[in-house]
Amino acid sequence: MSKSTVFDRRLERHYDELKWLYCELYRDEAAFEKFLDMLRRCWNDRKRPLREQDKKREANPAWYRCRELLGMMLYVDAFAGDLNGVKGKLDYLRECGVNYLHLMPLLASPKGRSDGGYAVSDFRTVQPGLGTMEDLEALGDACRKAGISLCLDFVMNHTSEDHDWARRARAGEGGFRERYFFYDSWDIPREFEKTVPQVFPTTAPGSFTQLEDGQIVMTNFYPYQWDLNYANPAVFNDMTENLLYLANRGIDVIRLDAIPYIWKELGTDCRNLPQVHTLARMLRMVCEVVCPSVLLLGEVVMEPAKVAPYFGTPDKPECHMLYNVTTMATTWHTVATGDVALLRRQMEAVCALPKDFLFLNYLRCHDDIGWGLDYPWLREHAGADEVAHKRYLNDYFTGKWPDSPSRGELYNDDPRLGDARLCGTTASLCGIEAAGEGNNSLTLEGAVARDLTLHAWMLSQSGIPVIYSGDEVGRLNDYTYHDDPDKREDSRYIHRGRFQWDLAERREDSDAYQGKLFQGLRRLETLRAGEACFDADADVWAEDSGDSHVLALCRRKDGRELVCLFNFSDSFAHAGVEREGSYTELMYGNRLEQIRDVELWPNGFAWLLKD
Ligand code: GLC
Repeated sequence: MSKSTVFDRRLERHYDELKWLYCELYRDEAAFEKFLDMLRRCWNDRKRPLREQDKKREANPAWYRCRELLGMMLYVDAFAGDLNGVKGKLDYLRECGVNYLHLMPLLASPKGRSDGGYAVSDFRTVQPGLGTMEDLEALGDACRKAGISLCLDFVMNHTSEDHDWARRARAGEGGFRERYFFYDSWDIPREFEKTVPQVFPTTAPGSFTQLEDGQIVMTNFYPYQWDLNYANPAVFNDMTENLLYLANRGIDVIRLDAIPYIWKELGTDCRNLPQVHTLARMLRMVCEVVCPSVLLLGEVVMEPAKVAPYFGTPDKPECHMLYNVTTMATTWHTVATGDVALLRRQMEAVCALPKDFLFLNYLRCHDDIGWGLDYPWLREHAGADEVAHKRYLNDYFTGKWPDSPSRGELYNDDPRLGDARLCGTTASLCGIEAAGEGNNSLTLEGAVARDLTLHAWMLSQSGIPVIYSGDEVGRLNDYTYHDDPDKREDSRYIHRGRFQWDLAERREDSDAYQGKLFQGLRRLETLRAGEACFDADADVWAEDSGDSHVLALCRRKDGRELVCLFNFSDSFAHAGVEREGSYTELMYGNRLEQIRDVELWPNGFAWLLKD
């Protein structure tokens, strides 16, 4: 089959729907023709190894739904200095069992006005200092050889104010102003602000910025991040080309940053509008036509009802994968309260979703923890008030309570709404940092147990587990950002510090907490990869464990059954589920004649496989 027929065959499958959606949104056939030409051009540019990968994965479209996948996300500079440094550390990543690597934003972005790389000034240039596009491609090649899929952010909602389009728009050049939202007076911006919630209420209040020359531009995030206007087909065409440019450098997973925000309409909250789904659907078709081995990961940090629609439907899929954000936030709520009721309810909601919805599970990432919990339920069942409960959680995780071992910092504390969010590394939030301060080995043991149990919990869920780099060796908060004028206002930098290689050096030492975590995690990951019950299509449900501190999660596949128990309290617990027969505890290999009454260590867990 000649080259062009592969493209044509794939395009033909989607042509009618693509044209329909595109033309309904833009009513511009000429722009659609340009769009198609661009797709063909990008397909032509795709190098042979990537085409081979396309073919392989097209033949096995479920390739990423396997329990062997294990992710890690990291900052290139913090981890290894630059892209070549990361290439030099692939052995360490392999030792961690990682086969999916999310590199945090690394494209050109102005210093001091970068939002951690999320203000891109050139989508085709690597941030000087981290390397070059060739280095990124070489890293992609090396990863492909090592069986590691590479994920990169595609910051699509906005560009940096230094992006060429923004500069030309600011200068009044025709065709560029229309790529953003420009206004000469505050009339319309004020109308927008009546209905659009603020993203960064304290670090970047408002949704618009007035430039020195008086013009006003929409900036939902930081003032230097100018919102792109996707109602303009030139923006969609050119941004799609940028996406495909990255895919053609060898990126396997494109993280669609802040996707719910990309369509704006006066009088709405400018989040999750129907047009966003049209755009997501078109991007999915674009990948299936040009680069079918590439996956779309939607960053949808919203309440559950808003998240699932980004998977689309079986006939018209949108994103391949989404973050399991509510489970993450509910997990930390459970750490602070010791009560598993809400987490059990959350699992019931997740388990009721179609099995082909694939989630990325995580404990911590580069962002804050926003307390997006089910408050109506908490009010009804626990009498909890939203504002008071957020305050409790924040006080707990900033170590204000005498019995709290956590060390975290608030993020975007909005006193008007009582709506602060929270930052800190897993280890510091679990108490490892505080235990070090007190030099109390008993507290340290409890903190390490909590940390490992949370990871076991993450690994027990269906989907792809993603470790936040450093968590595998108990990385602690990094307070040096307080001294950096470019960072000190943004407490997310507390958990974006340098990788602590001195901690990693102790990963073999089973007496050190780093070794306990690293080896414990490796054991969990290996068990997971080897046990069919962890498959994404296993039956999964939560059950009553008989103890309000203990969550019971059951998984069944092909007649095999696994019961997972997690103790969220600092005391021993007795809990279990009604089952006949004996089970084997997988971590240490102990046999249990019954699992109705299992003794769990403080902050401990058990993975119990039916014999
Ligand atoms: C996403 C990123 C976050 C960034 C924002 C603006 O939410 O995860 O770090 O600040 O987008 O691009």
